[in-house]
Amino acid sequence: MIHIVVTAARVLAARGDKRKALIRENQLAVYHAAALASYVFRWLPLRLEHIFTLNGTDKHAPNGHRYAPHYRLFFREFRWKRIKLLEIGIGGYGKLLGGRSINAWRWYFPLAKIVACDIEDKSVLSVSGVKIYQVDQSSQDDLRMVVRNEGKFDIIIDDGSHLSAHQIFTFKELFTSLVDGGVYVIEDIQTSYWPGCGGQSLGQPGSTCMTYFLELTHYLNSCEFLSDAKMNDELNELASQISTISFHHNMIFVKKDTQVKLSNILQGKH
Ligand SMILES: C[S@@+](CC[C@H](N)C(=O)[O-])C[C@H]1O[C@@H](n2cnc3c(N)ncnc32)[C@H](O)[C@@H]1O
Repeated sequence: MIHIVVTAARVLAARGDKRKALIRENQLAVYHAAALASYVFRWLPLRLEHIFTLNGTDKHAPNGHRYAPHYRLFFREFRWKRIKLLEIGIGGYGKLLGGRSINAWRWYFPLAKIVACDIEDKSVLSVSGVKIYQVDQSSQDDLRMVVRNEGKFDIIIDDGSHLSAHQIFTFKELFTSLVDGGVYVIEDIQTSYWPGCGGQSLGQPGSTCMTYFLELTHYLNSCEFLSDAKMNDELNELASQISTISFHHNMIFVKKDTQVKLSNILQGKH
């Protein structure tokens, strides 16, 4: 009797594995078809909203995020340039393979090299113009390996674990690898308000991605501080290379600019 039950369980498991493999194969075929289609569609003047929707990423969906207008604002200057874009987080859980945003970026930036990282092995998604790395964004060694291999980036997008500690750590680690004039994006910062994701309820003390970037924002004006007694040197150094920190619904954009900020105090205009 036990033998029959064990055999039946094995047959069902084998069927399940076969089904999973089939689903993955189908998804891979769709991914490659979309990658091929991008060689044609990327030359059409499609809006980013439509590119996201057509590729099935949740970056812009009727019942999901509405990131496209914000992305367009910061990314349009790069659209037809030979840029290098790094995205952390390829997507695809369980049976799903992911790679939807990779294809979306290939459509939107026809001349770009896309570097995509994920904690899971997503190497099957490697296609022309796309380099895939298996990386844990909380590991300094992993992040430095990517930078060693790829050099500097024009755009960096953190759509990985969405944990505040990882978002802050990755920013501190990768911001130096952004070119002057480049843009750093953090998605899904709603987790700053969710204690289960390392966030905190509104009004409680603590360190989250949102509180970190709100504090960093003050340092954009550090040359106007009347006393540097409480100055945080690390934040000050970072902010000296930033022109804009822009907060949007569930996302933050940081624009790099190493030009020295002139103080109103030193110019005697206060
Ligand atoms: C929201 S999905 C990315 C979605 C994709 N960018 C898109 O727009 O279609 C998040 C991805 O981050 C990956 N991830 C989770 N923790 C990570 C970590 N510590 N380091 C790197 N990637 C991680 C997950 O495996 C998952 O594939």
